[in-house]
Amino acid sequence: MLLHIPEVLSREQVISIRQRLDQADWTDGRATVGPQGAQVKQNRQLPEHSPVGLELGKIVLAALARSPQFFSAALPLRTIPPLFNSYAGGEHYGLHVDGSVRQMPGSTLSLRTDVSSTLFLCDPEEYEGGELVVVDTYGTHEVKLPAGDLILYPSTSLHKVEPVTRGTRVCAFFWTQSMVRDDWQRTLLFELDQNIQKLRARIGDAQEVVGLTSHYHNLLRQWAEL
Ligand code: NI
Repeated sequence: MLLHIPEVLSREQVISIRQRLDQADWTDGRATVGPQGAQVKQNRQLPEHSPVGLELGKIVLAALARSPQFFSAALPLRTIPPLFNSYAGGEHYGLHVDGSVRQMPGSTLSLRTDVSSTLFLCDPEEYEGGELVVVDTYGTHEVKLPAGDLILYPSTSLHKVEPVTRGTRVCAFFWTQSMVRDDWQRTLLFELDQNIQKLRARIGDAQEVVGLTSHYHNLLRQWAEL
């Protein structure tokens, strides 16, 4: 499932994060990829242990925790502290797949990357190019969202970032290990949950809504790995 979640961050949060990032020290983005990624990746990132990055990452995680859509779609077990990247002057990231297992920084825990997220921190008018292109079984999707909006996609998909030919593209990105490993099962649960929410808003907690809610939780109980 490819899902656009609008306004994960408010305009004020985006402005304040951008101000902090403008003054940060960026390094070569190849520090956080394996050998295949390193051949096609050309951008800049905040270092994984950068104090500014960790602090801004906490703001992003707090915003995700307030997003029912993110929870419903990702069913997060754990999320890696968000990283920040920047593309300008033709920088790009060629077609690649994200590494399947990552170490949680500062912990002995590993994380299986089930869901990848990109949170846009620039508006589309601020730069040319820089589309996130995700290839899945339904075809190729180009994504370029307003600042504060997030795109979530399965980590199993091939994807790339097109060259940024004008201006600068700044984003946060991160991975989530889901309670439900399989993208198709997550999609079924998401659609069921969204329809239950709409039904509840329309007719309240009727017996049928309670029945469907029970069905949702029993499916999640079947499929969740904790
Ligand atoms: Ni990637």
